[in-house]
Amino acid sequence: MDAVIIKNLTKKFKEITAINVLSLKIEKGKITGLIGADGSGKTTLIRLIIGLLLPDYGEISVLDLNPSVEKDELNKKIGYMPQKFGLYEDLTVIENLKLYADLKNVPHDFEKLLKFTDLKKFQSRLAGALSGGMKQKLGLACVLLGSPEFLLLDEPSVGVDPISRRDLMQMVCNLISPKTTVLWSTSYMDEAHSFDTAIVLDQGKVIYQGNPSDLAKTSEEFENKVIDLMGGYQKTKSRIAESYISKKTDVQYTVVADNLEKLYGDFYAVKNNSFKIKKGEIFGLLGPNGAGKSTSFKMMCGLLKPTNGIAHIMGIDITEDPEKARSNLGYMAQKFSLYESLTVKQNLDFFSEIYGIHDQNLKTRVSEIIDIFGFSQIQKQKAGELPLGFKQKLSLACALIHNPPILFLDEPTSGVDVITRREFWNHITSLAQKGVTVLVTTHFMDEAEYCDRISLFYKGETVAIGTPSALKKKVKAKNMEEAFMKLILESDK
Ligand SMILES: Nc1ncnc2c1ncn2[C@@H]1O[C@H](COP(=O)(O)OP(=O)(O)OP(=O)(O)O)[C@@H](O)[C@H]1O
Ligand SMILES: [Mg+2]
Repeated sequence: MDAVIIKNLTKKFKEITAINVLSLKIEKGKITGLIGADGSGKTTLIRLIIGLLLPDYGEISVLDLNPSVEKDELNKKIGYMPQKFGLYEDLTVIENLKLYADLKNVPHDFEKLLKFTDLKKFQSRLAGALSGGMKQKLGLACVLLGSPEFLLLDEPSVGVDPISRRDLMQMVCNLISPKTTVLWSTSYMDEAHSFDTAIVLDQGKVIYQGNPSDLAKTSEEFENKVIDLMGGYQKTKSRIAESYISKKTDVQYTVVADNLEKLYGDFYAVKNNSFKIKKGEIFGLLGPNGAGKSTSFKMMCGLLKPTNGIAHIMGIDITEDPEKARSNLGYMAQKFSLYESLTVKQNLDFFSEIYGIHDQNLKTRVSEIIDIFGFSQIQKQKAGELPLGFKQKLSLACALIHNPPILFLDEPTSGVDVITRREFWNHITSLAQKGVTVLVTTHFMDEAEYCDRISLFYKGETVAIGTPSALKKKVKAKNMEEAFMKLILESDK
């Protein structure tokens, strides 16, 4: 039995063909994974399936209904988690759950969900004050209410830490009935083997559909196979790094956090964060959701006043001279913070201006960036309408535009496809070789290996600090993921 039958589906947005004569079937009662490059059509496909978009051509049948004409009927049977799930940020965790339960007409029975999401102790916190990953978990909990027949999850695990990502998959498997159909889009290749079926999309077409183990036995192999299917990745010289002009400095440690603390009421978001980063070093701040990474980033770049402690950027105290300190910084926030209603090019122009690049220099630099990042096709598109991976790419470009000697990257690769992730890290490591200091956070444990040193952060405190190999050795782990889990579990005891 099939939950979804699609024949020759086509959907165009102006000159872009998002879905291109696509045919596929999705089996009932199975978990199907949707994988593909940024802009390959994953979100468009999901929106067509639930009737949020109408096709130009072709046929769709979902649970024996036609989503274009029987949308209301279909709505009652599905649970849909869009990329930007609509949590009410000014309501608390529990109020959000109550609201969604009422909308779906189901009882206020949240025990299991709160336990699974680990949000029980935070149930009276405003949703807006949750960390990025905690918000994802709450969104998923809201969608699971009422046990829908068909769950459509658009990148539910973006920004969710490796321990919680396993929980999330477990949560879905445990909380659904055996008859429930799940469509789960993702850019984490290590999730592939949890799916009954994997569908790989490329340029609006299905390029693979089948059992994930038939493609590859392990997740590393799976990632490489997907990259091959998508046309392969050829490492080239990072032109961003080549165009970088090194800045002279006498300070030994370009970034210093000294006893940083942030207190909200009686809750320590950051209790004690200290580290020193040398010029040209890649320093990774890793840790579970809610550990205090983003809070630390915000204090380090002067966006949030620390309760205690000091941060130095190029030897400058960030609270004493924020403007001067910040001129040395490129910051990529976890939450998309560019101007959504401006086009790609307008955003680049704007950020050049505010970083003090003008006239002919601005024109030259912006066209160079457009060329390097491959934005020429999308430069007139509004930033808010871009696929998630492209948004991240644009944010990185804006953070780099003024050639800063220090980069703060808060989950730069969350929601970014496998090939673009490699391109990002090629830029990051090449820039570091040219002397750029990088503070970065990620939930991809393979990326943690690119860091020179790592601080593992948990519940506002440093749990371990050292090179990736030292951390692995410390707990006799074969990879960073295992080291991460062991070190966190150990500190929990
Ligand atoms: N304004 C606020 N009021 C109360 N608590 C807050 C506020 N801002 C952040 N917090 C809490 O501080 C903690 C740390 O949040 P932070 O965003 O720094 O985590 P994170 O390590 O970046 O997590 P993630 O990996 O999910 O992005 C969380 O428990 C969060 O809910
Ligand atoms: Mg964060």
